[in-house]
Amino acid sequence: VIEKNVDPETMLLPYLRKKLRLTGTKYGCGGGGCGACTVMISRYNPITNRIRHHPANACLIPICSLYGTAVTTVEGIGSTHTRIHPVQERIAKCHGTQCGFCTPGMVMSIYTLLRNHPEPTLDQLTDALGGNLCRCTGYRPIIDACKTFCETSGCCQSKENGVCCLDQGINGLPEFEEESKTSPKLFAEEEFLPLDPTQELIFPPELMIMAEKQPQRTRVFGSERMMWFSPVTLKELLEFKFKYTQAPVIMGNTSVGPQVKFKGVFHPVIISPDRIEELSVVNHTHNGLTLGAGLSLAQVKDILADVVQKLPEEKTQTYHALLKHLGTLAGSQIRNMASLGGHIISRHPDSDLNPILAVGNCTLNLLSKEGKRQIPLNEQFLSKCPNADLKPQEILVSVNIPYSRKLEFVSAFRQAQRQENALAIVNSGMRVFFGEGHGIIRELSISYGGVGPATICAKNSCQKLIGRHWNEEMLDTACRLVLEEVSLSGSAPGGKVEFKRTLIISFLFKFYLEVSQILKKMDPIHYPSLADKYESALEDLHSKHHCSTLKYQHMGPKQHPEDPIGHPIMHLSGVKHATGEAIYCDDMPPVDQELFLTFVTSSRAHAKIVALLCISPRSIDLSEALSMPGVVDVITAEHLSDINSFCFFTEAEEFLVFCVGQLVCAVLADSEVQAKRAAKQVKIVYQDLEPLILTIKEAIQHNSFFEPERKLEYGNVDEAFKVVDQILEGEIHMGGQEHFYMETQSMLVVPKGEDQEMDVYVSTQFPKYIQDIVASTLKLPANKIMCHVKRVGGAFGGKAFKTGVIAAVTAFAANKHGRAVRCVLERGEDMLITGGRHPYLGKYKAGFMNDGRILALDMEHYSNAGNSLDESLLVIEMGLLKMDNAYKFPNLRCRGWACRTNLPSNTAFRGFGFPQAGLITESCIMEVAAKCGLSPEKVRMINMYKEIDQTPYKQEINAKNLIQCWRECMAVSSYSLRKAAVEKFNAENYWKKKGLAMVPLKYPVGLGSRAAGQAAALVHIYLDGSVLVTHGGIEMGQGVHTKMIQVVSRELGMPISNVHLRGTSTETVPNANVSGGSVVADLNGLAVKDACQTLLKRLEPIISKNPKGTWKDWNSVSSRGYESDINWEKGEGHPFEYFVYGAACSEVEIDCLTGDHKNIRTDIVMDVGCSINPAIDIGQIEGAFIQGMGLYTIEELNYSPQGVLHTRGPDQYKIPAICDTPTEFHISLLPPSENSNTLYSSKGLGESGVFLGCSVFFAIHDAVSTARRERGLHGPLSLNSPLTPEKIRMACEDKFTKMIPRDEPGSCVPWNVPI
Ligand SMILES: Cc1cc2nc3c(=O)[nH]c(=O)nc-3n(C[C@H](O)[C@H](O)[C@H](O)COP(=O)(O)OP(=O)(O)OC[C@H]3O[C@@H](n4cnc5c(N)ncnc54)[C@H](O)[C@@H]3O)c2cc1C
Ligand code: FES
Ligand code: FES
Repeated sequence: VIEKNVDPETMLLPYLRKKLRLTGTKYGCGGGGCGACTVMISRYNPITNRIRHHPANACLIPICSLYGTAVTTVEGIGSTHTRIHPVQERIAKCHGTQCGFCTPGMVMSIYTLLRNHPEPTLDQLTDALGGNLCRCTGYRPIIDACKTFCETSGCCQSKENGVCCLDQGINGLPEFEEESKTSPKLFAEEEFLPLDPTQELIFPPELMIMAEKQPQRTRVFGSERMMWFSPVTLKELLEFKFKYTQAPVIMGNTSVGPQVKFKGVFHPVIISPDRIEELSVVNHTHNGLTLGAGLSLAQVKDILADVVQKLPEEKTQTYHALLKHLGTLAGSQIRNMASLGGHIISRHPDSDLNPILAVGNCTLNLLSKEGKRQIPLNEQFLSKCPNADLKPQEILVSVNIPYSRKLEFVSAFRQAQRQENALAIVNSGMRVFFGEGHGIIRELSISYGGVGPATICAKNSCQKLIGRHWNEEMLDTACRLVLEEVSLSGSAPGGKVEFKRTLIISFLFKFYLEVSQILKKMDPIHYPSLADKYESALEDLHSKHHCSTLKYQHMGPKQHPEDPIGHPIMHLSGVKHATGEAIYCDDMPPVDQELFLTFVTSSRAHAKIVALLCISPRSIDLSEALSMPGVVDVITAEHLSDINSFCFFTEAEEFLVFCVGQLVCAVLADSEVQAKRAAKQVKIVYQDLEPLILTIKEAIQHNSFFEPERKLEYGNVDEAFKVVDQILEGEIHMGGQEHFYMETQSMLVVPKGEDQEMDVYVSTQFPKYIQDIVASTLKLPANKIMCHVKRVGGAFGGKAFKTGVIAAVTAFAANKHGRAVRCVLERGEDMLITGGRHPYLGKYKAGFMNDGRILALDMEHYSNAGNSLDESLLVIEMGLLKMDNAYKFPNLRCRGWACRTNLPSNTAFRGFGFPQAGLITESCIMEVAAKCGLSPEKVRMINMYKEIDQTPYKQEINAKNLIQCWRECMAVSSYSLRKAAVEKFNAENYWKKKGLAMVPLKYPVGLGSRAAGQAAALVHIYLDGSVLVTHGGIEMGQGVHTKMIQVVSRELGMPISNVHLRGTSTETVPNANVSGGSVVADLNGLAVKDACQTLLKRLEPIISKNPKGTWKDWNSVSSRGYESDINWEKGEGHPFEYFVYGAACSEVEIDCLTGDHKNIRTDIVMDVGCSINPAIDIGQIEGAFIQGMGLYTIEELNYSPQGVLHTRGPDQYKIPAICDTPTEFHISLLPPSENSNTLYSSKGLGESGVFLGCSVFFAIHDAVSTARRERGLHGPLSLNSPLTPEKIRMACEDKFTKMIPRDEPGSCVPWNVPI
């Protein structure tokens, strides 16, 4: 590509997508945190004659840095028009794609790995994917696809006791049934294209020639706002740095890039050195290593890995410590982009490397026109003291990292919300040197990250400990000194203050143990030995080896071989996802004269926008924004007052805002960049209002609820409380959850220019709703507005209603200007504006007998609904209807309230109230079990529904399959054996504990009303015999279109290849219901089936005349539905069509000192009826399970006391990544046992699996309880969700948690409030 007018502000991602129209590379976050934009960068080095391929995040690469570089995107490696690449084929055929939005990024990460390692190890694979997030699949199928490239693909490679996992049975325990080994595979490996490295794209020869022949010259790029200089020699670099002292030296741009993008920093001049050899030196000197500042962190990792192999361990202590953190620092993309120099100079307070480099006595080699000098990388440098820092004209050339000495030990520690690709909450580097002093400390250095505005060195404490013996007394003093020196205010940014204080000394303790253990090994006579059970503090929790088994039913012998029902057919768009050809909303080409719309949102949670008329220039000063280049309009509340989308007016016509993130106005401009720039100029003057209600507890205090209260009652609770043996009362709080669909809210609205028609292309679950809201905004009949959805890049409930307001405003703007308007939310905007899963507070009072039978239960559910009702009442209702989960509570009262607060309105989310309600019930059961001295599993079993029974709303239920799932799960997970193994482990290990928990599932499927249980489909048979099917369901990754094609294929008896599906549109299927609630395939499938049968009936006379003919020779709308209803007055009805049953057993290990946890193994057994497509169904179960696991363990939304959402991107909000998948993951589908009136007796599975994620929550709970009991804490333990490292650590109380200073309640303003 030759680009003559390069704008230095342009990043590769928008350049690829908008300029080159290569839309396979996706936008997911814009900050390097999600991997959706992964491309391969290849550079040729003419001196070494070597080509380096590495993965990179296109969203952070300035195009100016790419001169002479080859960029390979997903389109470049294969396509359906030519030949697909084996990586693309395997990820698709192994069912590694659902919505497909993350897939191109995944493909490019694996592809790049294979370019460097054609037969990678499993470690390399999981490493390569560490920077790629997927919200749908749960990663297992992606790992499976990747494993097919490994030499030992079927094996988990753990080889414990020298025995391969495949030979030793699951987890070393006997297999439950031999049959599980013979279960059919979900893909046929033998069909895969071989990977032939000789067939890969070569590095473009012209770039090679250019690099070799063209004289190296400084390149200069410029725009009106910015200049970019790329010097190619050190001398020139120094000249530029001398001339432009304020200009940053851009290397990987992973530090400067996010600051520019998210913090509004602007640099008019950028210096970006290119191929300057001196910055890439690797020198071994007599006392250490000198590494060039320009080396990437990935290169540093490789160099150090090599060095530690070659040198004796005593010399490489610092290198080992650095390697430990380099393994988890960011993802592979960032590690390959970020430079050592950039990392050091950025001095991020949570830098993983600087604390180690600081304790390792590293020095920095600086250079300027005035000459060179060396400075130490010490505390003064890290805190940017002017006399210890670089001078403005200096650059960092290289870093000296000394060898360690004999009897010198260096260690590194970190704890993050997620094990990998997550900034540390606290990290640390520690070094001690004994010399020949027999355990007397000669030198000691301790540095911490994450505990202040810079990396902090506990210098004074270390000084005071010199001369002390390395023993427990010293440790005790050290802890007290360090806590005093590294003090952390109760209001410190990032919160988790007490946790951080605890980590500070827990790490110190770990260091103490590590060093003691080595000293003991070296000199058993002089050094005290560690108690065996304390050694557990030292082992690493995380393993990168994954293995899985999947068990599903065989097809019956009677089924026609060409009938696809029940077969693991690949997702219809799987290959297109993998090649980047699948088109999502923002991939659509621009329409002539298209405009871009961006929103301005409220920064106050409860305020009046000053002045009476909201359009008045006195209140919203629009003049500045309107005068900016490219700006076309600012749409305000006045324009839209009828639909009230933007604001709430009181009777006095005051413009009020009720949450941070509320839409205030929208800016319309020629381009996205201009719209965003102008939006920043819009100024709003607020007057804060009282009260500010953020939390559920505050809402209860202020009696701030949405009407009505809902109540469900069964039996006689008050009477039952009189006869029970014991009564307990408790409560549990559960945090919310961000949908984090990988494709943010996106739409393109195109006025047709005729008859006021308008096409709305939108990523939504509910086209009819969009059609209605747009039609009413424009005061047009619905028949003028057509809404089209090809596919959605993940939704999970977040694109059901939330999309409506955004579409209404966008359509209004398009209509007003008669031009197409595009609106695509950035990740941060999306997270801020659209709300998510409701936080819950559950209060319970349970009456039970000493044998564990619960006879009376009185529950209260409070949800944090946010500032508008949205779906909150329905969520409360579903929570009440499903709260019994798998249990028969003979006397039950449950009431629910949706709390009105000053937060963005929460909305539908996969599981719809059940994950919260179920957790509350299960927590109550845990407590009952503890009171009765029984295992929770026993109490669960005792209270479970038995065969034919009745729910609290008097719907009949046959729980046979529930019991079967439970029993089978017990058996396949070898529950009893493993329980004993866990107990043995726990008795032998003090600082690590394991926990095991099993939860049952009864998930009622149905939408609670007759109207919602309808669907329609349209099937066309064309004269050439091909078939086009359309239905009301939206393809958002759950595979509904694939299933529909299977249905047509069976019904019409034709091959799948004969059937096509173009997408969903209000033009072909009117009035379709929202796609959600697990029933999309059920309902639409019945409609498709009906439509096919109607057609067959019509064609019957022709077919019977020519029975041997084809569809070409032979040559509609139909609807079916579920009947469901509930009468809330009476608290009874038939709200659900059927129940999905299941059970999950999870085993975890926790680190009591850090709060870290690892899911070692999960077994899930599900009753899915007759699966239409086991690959898709298993994918739904796994994906939902992992999403649930995230909900209950690591996904944590943080709000400030002013109601501002802190967590606005993948860097702050952690969804599960590949490191979070269970080491062993086993899924079994129960053989179908009954025929039902559902589609081919199948069951909808989209949502139920989320709840099973709480088996991990309870397994952690089990482990924490064991730790507490061992520490003499026997009282009840109530743990809130999510069970983050912070909560785990703080619950494992010990001498360290007792040692830390605590803040008196009310003594400081916390950084965040639990809402
Ligand atoms: C998604 C993501 C995840 C991350 N996760 C982690 C993590 O887990 N742990 C962690 O520790 N860090 C993490 N980081 C931070 C990352 O390590 C740093 O951003 C990175 O190391 C900076 O290097 P760079 O080359 O990209 O710097 P750039 O952005 O190119 O430059 C940064 C600064 O350094 C200066 N500079 C660069 N080179 C020189 C030189 N030779 N001489 C003088 N000045 C120079 C520049 O002027 C600039 O001010 C993460 C970053 C991202 C984006
Ligand atoms: S879009 Fe680039 S990493 Fe998320
Ligand atoms: S398939 Fe990975 S995000 Fe949807």
